[in-house]
Amino acid sequence: MSTLSEPLAPEGLDAWRRLPVKQQPEWPDADALADVTADLAAQPPLVFAGEADTLRERLAAASRGEAFLLQGGDCAETFSELSADNIRDKIKTILQMAVVLTYGASMPIIKMGRMAGQYAKPRSSGTETRDGVSLPAYRGDIINGFEFSPSSRTPDPRRLLEAYRNSASTLNLIRAFTSGGFADLRLVHEWNRGFLRNPAYAQYEAFAAEIDRAIRFMHAAGADFDGLRTVEFFSSHEGLLLDYERPLTRVDSRTGDAYDCSAHFLWIGERTRELDGAHVDFFSRVRNPIGVKLGPTATGQDAIGLMDSLNPDGEAGRLTFITRMGAPKVRELLPDLIEAVRADGRPVTWVCDPMHGNGFTSSNGYKTRRFSDVIEEVRGFFDVHRELGTVPGGLHVELTGDDVTEVLGGAEHIDDHSLGRRYQTLVDPRLNHQQSLEMAFLVADMLRVS
Ligand code: PEP
Ligand code: CO
Repeated sequence: MSTLSEPLAPEGLDAWRRLPVKQQPEWPDADALADVTADLAAQPPLVFAGEADTLRERLAAASRGEAFLLQGGDCAETFSELSADNIRDKIKTILQMAVVLTYGASMPIIKMGRMAGQYAKPRSSGTETRDGVSLPAYRGDIINGFEFSPSSRTPDPRRLLEAYRNSASTLNLIRAFTSGGFADLRLVHEWNRGFLRNPAYAQYEAFAAEIDRAIRFMHAAGADFDGLRTVEFFSSHEGLLLDYERPLTRVDSRTGDAYDCSAHFLWIGERTRELDGAHVDFFSRVRNPIGVKLGPTATGQDAIGLMDSLNPDGEAGRLTFITRMGAPKVRELLPDLIEAVRADGRPVTWVCDPMHGNGFTSSNGYKTRRFSDVIEEVRGFFDVHRELGTVPGGLHVELTGDDVTEVLGGAEHIDDHSLGRRYQTLVDPRLNHQQSLEMAFLVADMLRVS
C-alpha cells in the first residue's frame, strides 16, 4: 500500500494563497490558526489515494453510462447531530435508494455521502443582522456556532480539529456499516418492503414486486449473496474552507501526486468556481475526482475554462459537473452547456442537483423546496440528455434518514403549516427518509426508459 506523506509537496499547492479567495472566514487570531493547521497536517489522512483513484474509475464509468452516481446527505452536518443513529439512518436511506436505482438503471450505483466532512457553508452575506445587531454569518460548524451571540459567531480555528475528529469517527462508522453486513441486499430490500406498507406509496408496489422477483431469481440461480453484503461507499463534501483542505493534502509516495485526504470527492461550489480564483487553482493540483456546481449563470465558456484548469488532459472520471438550474430553467439552460462540452470532446460526468435551484421561502417563513419541483428538475435533466444523446450520470441530493418536515409535498403532502413540526436543518431543507425513497422510485422509472 502507498504511504501518504507531506514533506515533498509539489510546487504550487500553496499558490492559491496569492489568488482572490471567496467565502473564507476572518480568523481573529493568525497564530491560533497556524497552530491548528500544523496540528492537522500531522494527523493521519482520512482516506487513501488508492480509494480516490478507484472512485475516479467509477465516475468514468458513470460518464459512459455504465454506472450511476447517488450522492446524498445533509446540507450541513453539525457536531451536535453526530450520533450512531443519525449516521446509520442516513446510510440506510442511501442504500435503500440505491437498491431501487440499481434495479431501474440495471447498472451499478456509486454510493457517496455528503458526509464525514460537510461542515463548511458558503453564505450569501458575510454578516447576519437581528434586531439591529450584526454578527458574522454562520458558516458551518467547522468555522463558528449557529447560536446568535458574539462568542459563538466568532470564527474559532479549534473547530477545524473538531471537524477532523468528527469526520474520522463518521467515516469509521460508515466503513463499519457498509462492510459489516448492514448493506446486505436482502436486508435492504426488506426495509423497502416495510416502507411500502404505508398505503400512501401503493403506486410503487408493482416496482418493488419486480425487485422481489429479481432477488428470488438471483437466489434460485445461485447468486452469491454473501458477496453482496459489502458495498463501496465514498465520502464527499464541498471543498470550501482551504485552511482545512490544504493541511489534509498529502503526497502519494508511489507517484508524487497530491491528494486531498479529507474526502474521496470534493466539489467546488457555485459561489467559488471563478476561473482565476483560489478554489479552482487549489483543486487543479490534487488528484481526487473533483466536482463543480454549475448554476443558471454558467456559460459554455465557463465549462470549458473549468475543464482547461481541472482536467486539461481529458481524463475520464476526473471532472464531474453538478448542474443546479432550477426546475423551470433546466430545459432551457442545460443544452448550451452540454453542447459546448460535447464540442470540446473531453469527457465529464454529468450529475443533477435538483435541490439548490429550487429554494424559496414559505408563506410562514421557512426556507423550503417543493418535492414536485425537485422531481421536475431531474426529469428535465434526463430529457435534455436523452434529446442530445449524452449521458445523465448521477443525482446529488440533500437528504436525511429522519422524519423531518423541511421539503413541501411528497405522497405525505407536507404543507406550509406542517413545515414547522420537525424543521431541523440549520441551512437548506432536506428530503426526509420517505421523500428520499419516493424520489428513488420516481428516478428509477426515468432511468429505466433511458
Ligand atoms: C450546497 O451544495 O449545499 C451548496 C451550497 O450548493 P451550491 O454551491 O450549488 O449553491
Ligand atoms: Co445546501
